[in-house]
Amino acid sequence: MSDFKSGYPEYMQESLKKVSETRSSRFGKEFTPMTAEQRIQILEKFHPDWKPQMKRGLKIGPSKGMLIPHEVADIIESHSMIKHDEIDLTKIDYDLDVLIIGGGGAGLSAGILAKESGIPADKILLVQKLRLGDANSKMAQGGIQAADTSIDNPAIHYLDVIGGGHYANKPDLVEALVKDAPDVIKWHESLGVMYDKNPDGTMLEIAGGGTSRNRMHSCKDYTGLELTRVVLDEFINKEIGYTEFTSAVELLMDDKEQVAGAVLYDLETKEYHIARSKSTILATGGFGRLHIQGFATTNHYGATGDGIVMAYRTGAILRDLDSTQYHPTGAAFPEQIVGQLATEKLRGRGAQPVNKYGELFVYHLEPRDIESSSYIRECYERDNGIVTPTGMKAVWLDTPMIEKVNGSGTIEREFAAMFRNFNRWGIDIRKEPMLVFPTLHYQNGGVEINANTETNIAGLLCAGEVCGGVHGKNRLMGNSQLEIYVFGRRAGRAAAKRASKTNLGELNLNHVKRYDKWLEEAGIITERKSPIILPEYRGEKTLSHQLKIM
Ligand code: FUM
Repeated sequence: MSDFKSGYPEYMQESLKKVSETRSSRFGKEFTPMTAEQRIQILEKFHPDWKPQMKRGLKIGPSKGMLIPHEVADIIESHSMIKHDEIDLTKIDYDLDVLIIGGGGAGLSAGILAKESGIPADKILLVQKLRLGDANSKMAQGGIQAADTSIDNPAIHYLDVIGGGHYANKPDLVEALVKDAPDVIKWHESLGVMYDKNPDGTMLEIAGGGTSRNRMHSCKDYTGLELTRVVLDEFINKEIGYTEFTSAVELLMDDKEQVAGAVLYDLETKEYHIARSKSTILATGGFGRLHIQGFATTNHYGATGDGIVMAYRTGAILRDLDSTQYHPTGAAFPEQIVGQLATEKLRGRGAQPVNKYGELFVYHLEPRDIESSSYIRECYERDNGIVTPTGMKAVWLDTPMIEKVNGSGTIEREFAAMFRNFNRWGIDIRKEPMLVFPTLHYQNGGVEINANTETNIAGLLCAGEVCGGVHGKNRLMGNSQLEIYVFGRRAGRAAAKRASKTNLGELNLNHVKRYDKWLEEAGIITERKSPIILPEYRGEKTLSHQLKIM
């Protein structure tokens, strides 16, 4: 008699039995990808981004009229934490060539490249509101894309990115992304990243949703952790300055209308500090912790959209913020890990999404917005989902199929972190499927940049998830790990170049005063203040909101 004990409650056992019984008949089968017309239909009906009532037009600023989620509009249409005339701008705490705000992959690589471009280490400061490296970059699982095999090239990668982004991407940014990609992989390897390899020593490259070639490079299922480990090490070895538990709360301008540093807030001492800088790079990441439409999130604790708020107050242009990415496979059970990422690589290696009857209902590698919409349809229109003990609906992701397709031992070898995580909750994903539902994953839009990471405001550069344009209206898997290093490195170089020929004028916070005027003129009467720095989970805003999404 087997001593296997299911990690799921008794009432799910009948459905689990169906998943197990149908596995052999599903082996080698897949749903046909949807046509363009079917894709639009399913997005219109089921994707959270396509619900007009969940957004409103921005009432102020250079991107006035742009439709964005209410939660994002709320932090943008807020007052500053500081009053423009209450901060002493004559006492300079840090006098810099390059200030970097944010310590994920984009910020760290910007620091390294600024130093390599000739800026002395003590003239660079990286400001991080949590600990160095605490960012979504580190949490990435599945991989990083780069077209570097004989059957692939950057032009094909380009077409995939543009198609996935619904043709709304900024072409120069996509070109930079795909052309720099092979060099980024080489750079990582030269620093010591241990990418997964085939027995013959070539890169193991697998499929991702919406990609026409296998170009996903990975480090098991903790690619972000491995990349951050190595890049962070390099940053520290270069002895570049940094502060932790310090948040930028407002950018500084000078009398030449250029960004000239930032006001920093020490989260421990509650003191403000002034960082004057010839170049300022925003690498603050995204906004997952705003829990758009009540969705749980894969994002780290500090992902509160600070960068778009600070940039917008200086007059920087935003784009594509109407588009938010919901990753199809967020964990839905047990409750303790609701929203956490179950990497797309699982589907890339053969895991199949199936409903409560063990039936396939969608091609497993549709672009994320389509895949997510189909899970929502399966649960809410067709009522073919499983209801979890907390009342969430979810579908199965049949992970044991991975072992059937690739041989036993694949899950422990390639999904070491996921295997361990689910084991902790009594679920053996080699033997039982996972319960999954879409989870808020990525800010597709953000501050508009050019291929040198410059914004429309002199002195302000941006890199990583805080930017818009690279991914259009939907990012494909693995292009975020790529983006942070492509544009982080470009930002470091561009910031160094600018610093070498820039003279700063007198500092001011006139844009904060102007912003209050814009709010007043638009009739926005609010006590809200932003950036919010960290999310608020006390009171009614708890994860139980996940139950109310539909
Ligand atoms: O599914 C994943 O591993 C996520 C990757 C990404 O967002 O690029």
